Amino acid sequence: MIVLDPQNNVFTLHTKHTTYQMKADQYRVLLHSYYGPRVRDGDLSYLIQYADRGASPNPNEAGHRRDYSLDTLPQEYSTCGVGDYRLPSIEFGPEDGSRLADLRYVNCQLVPGKYSLEGLPAFHGQGWETLSVILRDPSSGVEVELLYGVCEEDDLITRAARLTNRGSGDVRLCQAMSLCLDLSRADLDLITFDGGHVRERNLDRAPLRPGVQGVGSVRGTSSHQHNPFVILCDHDAGEDHGVCYGAALLYSGSFLAAVERSQFEDARLVMGIHPHHFRWALAPGESFTAPEAALVCSPDGLTPMTHRFHRAIREHLIQDPHAGARRPVLINNWEATEFDFDAERLVDIAREGAALGMELFVLDDGWFGCRDTDDNSLGDWFVNEKKLPGGLKYLADEVNKLGMKFGLWVEPEMVCPDSNLFRAHPDYALQIPGRPPMLSRTQLVLDLSRKEVRDCIYDQLRKVLSSANIEYVKWDMNRPLTDVASFCLEGERQGELFHRYVLGVYELQERMLTDFPHLLLENCASGGGRFDPGMLYYSPQIWTSDNMDVVERLRIQEGTALIYPLSTMGAHVAACPSHTNGRSTPFETRGLVSLPGCFGYELDLTKLTEEELAMIPGQLENYRKYGPVFHGGDYYRLASYGENGEYDALMSVSKDKRTAVLDYVHVMSRQRRRDVLLPLRGLDAEKRYRSSETGEIRSGAGWMYGGLLLPNMKGDFLGKLIVLEAV
Ligand code: DGJ
Repeated sequence: MIVLDPQNNVFTLHTKHTTYQMKADQYRVLLHSYYGPRVRDGDLSYLIQYADRGASPNPNEAGHRRDYSLDTLPQEYSTCGVGDYRLPSIEFGPEDGSRLADLRYVNCQLVPGKYSLEGLPAFHGQGWETLSVILRDPSSGVEVELLYGVCEEDDLITRAARLTNRGSGDVRLCQAMSLCLDLSRADLDLITFDGGHVRERNLDRAPLRPGVQGVGSVRGTSSHQHNPFVILCDHDAGEDHGVCYGAALLYSGSFLAAVERSQFEDARLVMGIHPHHFRWALAPGESFTAPEAALVCSPDGLTPMTHRFHRAIREHLIQDPHAGARRPVLINNWEATEFDFDAERLVDIAREGAALGMELFVLDDGWFGCRDTDDNSLGDWFVNEKKLPGGLKYLADEVNKLGMKFGLWVEPEMVCPDSNLFRAHPDYALQIPGRPPMLSRTQLVLDLSRKEVRDCIYDQLRKVLSSANIEYVKWDMNRPLTDVASFCLEGERQGELFHRYVLGVYELQERMLTDFPHLLLENCASGGGRFDPGMLYYSPQIWTSDNMDVVERLRIQEGTALIYPLSTMGAHVAACPSHTNGRSTPFETRGLVSLPGCFGYELDLTKLTEEELAMIPGQLENYRKYGPVFHGGDYYRLASYGENGEYDALMSVSKDKRTAVLDYVHVMSRQRRRDVLLPLRGLDAEKRYRSSETGEIRSGAGWMYGGLLLPNMKGDFLGKLIVLEAV
């Protein structure tokens, strides 16, 4: 619910459990009063502290008031050049190079429903209200529209900013953040999700130190290295206690999430497009839209924060027809064959998969151009008939005859120097004229800011997708951006290219989904290099990581699932020894670790032992029965191998609380004197549940407050799936 008090210029956003408030003061500066657990009082601006701050500058109208400085007051959207020396949200200037943004409140408006952002991903659906607040910089005429989406039921607040040049001269933007959150305290921990290729989204937690800290990417993608999702929380916040603020950016390119602990012990979080190499020219009348950010405040720990993000992503970000739908069990040929396949080998794998009950066969890299190695043909999206006579149509038909769907890998953002496309249009690749561009995996990045480049790629894709019954696409992206220059942008406008590239990717995916509305799209970037909420708007699932070793996956999936629902995490049973780290683990455990995600297999089924093959029907049965509980229920972290070095456990409880599934992985054996005791969570204390493991029936309270005893397992890399059903 949005409450406006126009007399006092106090604007309040209430969700079910939280309150967010701002106030335009007597100088029309928009101050941030409060964000936290829900409070019903009207004006909370008494929380804004005006104390003599000594050497901080005062705005002109404040005269000699030593207690009024933008350097010390909590801002709703921080400025620059006018006395606030903390992290700016916006920076722009006229062509003369000066930089100053002095934003003052103009008016605000309550709009029913949720705003949308042209060309950018955004939360949507029912149950939203929008607040639009207009600020203006009097001298340049630059207007900033701050947009707030309030989803009361899901405790979600979204933010975005639209900047319009209402002045008469040209303006150059060099920073436009999506979110600024000033908290009047700094005794907080910062949690980020970091790593690299094959070790994405490992959780890192540290107390805020004085000054600026944070994460970001300047790679042109949201990256393997850092995720556009951060948490600020009480030092002692845990799963079910402590205040936590989670902030996520719906953006798939270079981003910044920075926090500053200031001299007065407050904390400012800004989040948005990374200012590195960012410029945007605004002629009079033109606008720029900063992507959407989403905020959740949980007064009682990390788990409720996770639940709110999971619900909001499932119900308000992922689009139909896949939003609540069960995802098919897939078999992907990549780790089985890499480039070494022909139609017969693929059909053999599909036949084996179909006989075992798999539902979707995915043909990965190597089907197009003359691609038998990874150093050629990207950009030539026509089938290699030598490898696949009869084309994709023949293959898809054969797969369909087996009762399976057919899916295809593509990497539309790239071009290899050894390709027809590059030979015909070398200028289609990003490059700085006169300098040989950097290769990575022997490929270059296409200049997707250009419509003719997008059209050329899309026309090829459309033909491919129309040539056969293709029901799933894996959209890969295997290198970061370098040589970020376009033949079609002049001078300073080259600074627009990073963002124009991302808009180009979004436009391509949007076009594809408009023309093929039933396509199930899975995004991927060398594994999980672009696992972000922006991508989830287009693809309901994302390939989590190229690392399929169960031990390392536990950590990757734990970090990922802190915000992203289990239904979005591609998770496959792969061959052993692991292609990433050489570790061998039992087939059964590989199944257990993948089960909570979008389940599938990525190995040569024709090479499995009889014993392994015999396990597959049981794994599929579990996915069919309990996949909906993992994907649609409430997820709880019970134990983290990363923390205890011994075992890992997660559980999901169905919405009606009648079924709970517990995925337990005993990673490393240790001589322990006692059995593992796991207090369960999320059950109905009054209901009685039977354990699939022992048949014992206990109350929800018993399982939760007493706990579940797991007799010690002998050996490493073992596990169990335990189901509790209400009786
Ligand atoms: C990287 C992806 O993450 C893999 O799953 C696979 O599709 C390869 N690319 C193919 O080149």
